[in-house]
Amino acid sequence: MSSLRLPRSIETGRLFMRCYEAADVEALDGDAIRSIDHIGQFLPHAREELLGDRVALLEDARRAFNAGERFAYGIFLRDGSFVGNCGTRWVGDGELNIGYWVVREHLRQGYTREAVQAVTAAGFEAGVTRFVLNCDPRNVASIGVARSAGFTYLSTDERVGDRGVRYAEMTWELRPGGQAIERYAAP
Ligand SMILES: CC(C)(COP(=O)(O)OP(=O)(O)OC[C@H]1O[C@@H](n2cnc3c(N)ncnc32)[C@H](O)[C@@H]1OP(=O)(O)O)[C@@H](O)C(=O)NCCC(=O)NCCS
Repeated sequence: MSSLRLPRSIETGRLFMRCYEAADVEALDGDAIRSIDHIGQFLPHAREELLGDRVALLEDARRAFNAGERFAYGIFLRDGSFVGNCGTRWVGDGELNIGYWVVREHLRQGYTREAVQAVTAAGFEAGVTRFVLNCDPRNVASIGVARSAGFTYLSTDERVGDRGVRYAEMTWELRPGGQAIERYAAP
């Protein structure tokens, strides 16, 4: 863990991202659950968490955000519609891992790219030295996000999961100054 903190809320041209609140359980109960098979395809842990106690999940996300352990942002449109999640957690001194998922109805509109660009920019401003992104080599959507947000591909490695299952994992990184140019103008 680090003493660095990310801001509680971040605004972009189209998005409002913030630390979760208890009332966000409605979005998880509705939009996220309707998208669970899509979200869970490459994120089995997120699937398990979202199908579990969602009130406790949000409470823990807030606790961890306040403690500086990890920073999970709910992504919303300006009209309040829930888009998805962008979360970061410490993986080294000044180094955060970043992950994301978006509900089905908001896919392919550049929202994840915009969210990742904003969170990484806020992180670098706060003193983060590196963002790491891991994804399954078959996850073309996540690879698309990594590329379009300016991450650099490092390696694909074999890992052994919780239950001894082997899987391949890609690692990408982003360092200060490496971000892609913002392509979405503010409305
Ligand atoms: C990965 C995910 C968050 C991408 O969300 P998204 O909001 O649709 O992504 P964006 O619209 O911001 O797209 C970013 C880039 O990826 C590309 N991309 C997105 N989905 C793609 C797909 N299915 N196939 C090919 N490229 C894709 C886009 O074209 C865009 O590239 P560009 O900027 O060069 O045009 C979404 O597919 C998802 O929720 N997947 C399930 C959960 C998951 O796998 N999370 C990542 C775990 S590592």
